[in-house]
Amino acid sequence: MNQVREKLFSCLESLKKKTDFKPEVALVLGSGLGDYAEHIEVKETVDYKDLEGFPVSTVAGHKGRFVFGYIGSVPVVIMQGRVHYYEGYPMSDVVLPIRLMGLLGAKKLILTNAAGGINFDYRPGDFMLLKDHITTAVPSPLIGENIEELGPRFPDMSEVYSERMREIAIFCAKKLEIPIQEGVYVQFTGPNYETPAEIRMARSWGADAAGMSTACEAMAARHLGMEVCGISCITNLAAGMSKQALSHKEVQETADKVSVRFKALITELIKA
Ligand code: 6GU
Repeated sequence: MNQVREKLFSCLESLKKKTDFKPEVALVLGSGLGDYAEHIEVKETVDYKDLEGFPVSTVAGHKGRFVFGYIGSVPVVIMQGRVHYYEGYPMSDVVLPIRLMGLLGAKKLILTNAAGGINFDYRPGDFMLLKDHITTAVPSPLIGENIEELGPRFPDMSEVYSERMREIAIFCAKKLEIPIQEGVYVQFTGPNYETPAEIRMARSWGADAAGMSTACEAMAARHLGMEVCGISCITNLAAGMSKQALSHKEVQETADKVSVRFKALITELIKA
């Protein structure tokens, strides 16, 4: 009856046929971090296209696979390439991989992304730890018949981004001498960037950075009871804040520039 539930559990079954790896931590790699998965102690990889019904990213150059392995002594599953709502998939497909990683046993989730700075104090290349989010511009991934095995119909969202993990991340950033901000992330659908008026609206709502992912994934993970940490790389200033037009090229260039520091922070955080 519930097609979302059926698809999820058939994907889980086909994934379990390919691996019996039990991850503790799940990690989603955003722009500029894609190659991180190749630098860990890789045990197994599973291509998304080999999982029946699994949403496969359509963005050029995005790898689509799960990488299973170890960072230090911590068993991890890494999503190398995520699915975005703007690609045309329903929200239930966008968060399916997050649910799969949760059902494989991952209790903690680290989400990374590239985002546009809304806060006037932010500069391209800054990192921002998510302390909360705003998702009024995108539909909830939990709309539809509730999947009781995952979590409750009306899940609490008062601490989506774990204060405990935020404290650990700040400690790690200090140790590595990487400056880090804390702020509120607003998810828009994309694929267009926002207008200056939309950015002013988001700022008045209390948002510090804008992106096209992450918050919906965090909601699905909280529904499952996972502990979530989110880190944005501020790759550019949002619309209306500089004379420059926004471009995906600028986003990628900034993300690439700071990727060494970003990767060091993620490694330290997972080990801690
Ligand atoms: Cl300004 N907006 C959105 N939605 N996503 C972004 C961005 C802006 N900059 C990088 N990613």
